[in-house]
This record gives sequence, structure tokens and C-alpha cells, in this order.
Amino acid sequence: MFYVFPNPQAIAEYVSGLLIAQIQKKNNAVLGLATGSTMEPVYAKLCEQVAQQNVDVSGLTTFNLDEYIGLGSDHPQSYRYYMRQHLFNRLAFVQHRTFLPDGLCADSLQQCEQYSRQIQQAGHIDLQLLGIGNNGHIGFNEPGTSFASRTHVVPLTEQTRIDNSRFFDSLDEVPTQAITLGLQDIMESKQIILIATGTNKAQIMAELYESPVSEQLPASVIKSHPNALVLLDELAAQFLPADLCNVAVV
Ligand code: F6R
Repeated sequence: MFYVFPNPQAIAEYVSGLLIAQIQKKNNAVLGLATGSTMEPVYAKLCEQVAQQNVDVSGLTTFNLDEYIGLGSDHPQSYRYYMRQHLFNRLAFVQHRTFLPDGLCADSLQQCEQYSRQIQQAGHIDLQLLGIGNNGHIGFNEPGTSFASRTHVVPLTEQTRIDNSRFFDSLDEVPTQAITLGLQDIMESKQIILIATGTNKAQIMAELYESPVSEQLPASVIKSHPNALVLLDELAAQFLPADLCNVAVV
């Protein structure tokens, strides 16, 4: 389940290949997408390879994991903006099939119910990409979130706000709430790929490796998924027992 790659570029190449294989197998596949620094090389490589190989992405439906409450789609730190910049505007995605929660929606609860339902109606996510927070969150499911959770509104922990303040001018500007896909929605995906890169993920990846499946470490839920991969670069894997990790063949 745990695979170690030499660097983030090697992971990006591998994941881009998996995404393209998924699209070629099912041109109307449903992809679950994440934002954040970890995904940037993945999306850059995907854009490059899709163009090179002339892959048709126009049949895809995508659902993002999360969005900040209070940020509109034109706010540069909103996740819709990130997705346009890194993926949607760079390839021939059909915009009305690219779903993210709306950070300005007046009725967040109704929106949450609708979001989980839309994923079910689309036949569930075929391939879900995940990053991981320093506290083990996936999406914005912070420690203690129920494994039975559906799309919901979350108050962001101080740790997550501090981690994400690097994208904002100051900590005060980081929203205090977000909408996130729930852990049960994520677990209903047919395949899950969690990616962790860099030294600042080394500690949480060692914890994830050793942890039993526990709501105190949300990412640990994927250990009970039948088709989940955890891909790390050497820096993120530095505290894992080397002999127990599969070294990726690249
Ligand atoms: C983003 C998301 C988050 C990030 C995580 C890691 O859509 O759901 O769980 O994947 O916070 O972020 P980076 O990649 O910036 O370290």
C-alpha cells in the first residue's frame, strides 16, 4: 500500500499515467480532485501528458474535495480559482461537470446534502486524489471526524489555518470554516491515491504508517479501503521503516 518514489516529479509522472489510463478505460469517468501544493506537479504533468497524447477529457466529471466558506470563485485563494488555474482552464474540461462546493452559498447545509447526492448520482468517484494535512486530515476532515460523515461544514483547526496561511497575506485572512466531502463519501470511491511529499509530511506519514484505523487520524481510514495507494517521496518517507516500504519502479 505504501510506495516510495525518489521525488515529487516521479510521483507526478506515475499518477498522471494512472489518471490517463483511467480516462482511456472510461472516458466518462468521475474523478475526485484535491488542491494544495502536493497536487501542483501532478496537474502540471497531467496537462503536459494529456496534450502530448491527445487524450480526450471532455467526457469527465470532477468533484473537488473542499472549498473555503466565504471565498467566491474569483478569490485567488478559493479552490475553484486554483482548479481553473492548474487544470480546468488548461484542458478541455466541460465546466458544468466540474463540481466544487460554492463558498458563498447561502444555504450551506442544503448544499452539503446535494453535493454528496450528486456524487452518488454520478455513480461514485472512480479515482480519488488526496493530499494529507500535518494533523492527518484528508479533505478538511480534521481529527475526530466521524468515518460515517458526509459532505459537511467544518470549523478549521488553528493548525490547519496556520499551515494554509502561507497562501494568504496574513493568518487573519484565512477563512475559519470550509465545506468538505465526508469520510464516507471519500471511502465510497472505487480507487484512492493519497500523496505526501516533502520533509514537513515525514512525521504524519510515520504516524499514518504505524497507526491503527482511528478517527483521531482521519487519513488512517483509507487503510481499510480495498483499493488505496499511498505514494510518498523519499523526504516524506524518511521516518518509515525502509525495509517495509515498496520502492516504486520508475
Ligand atoms: C485540499 C485538501 C487538503 C490538502 C492538505 C495538504 O483540497 O483537501 O486536505 O490536500 O491540506 O495540502 P498541501 O498539499 O498544500 O500540503
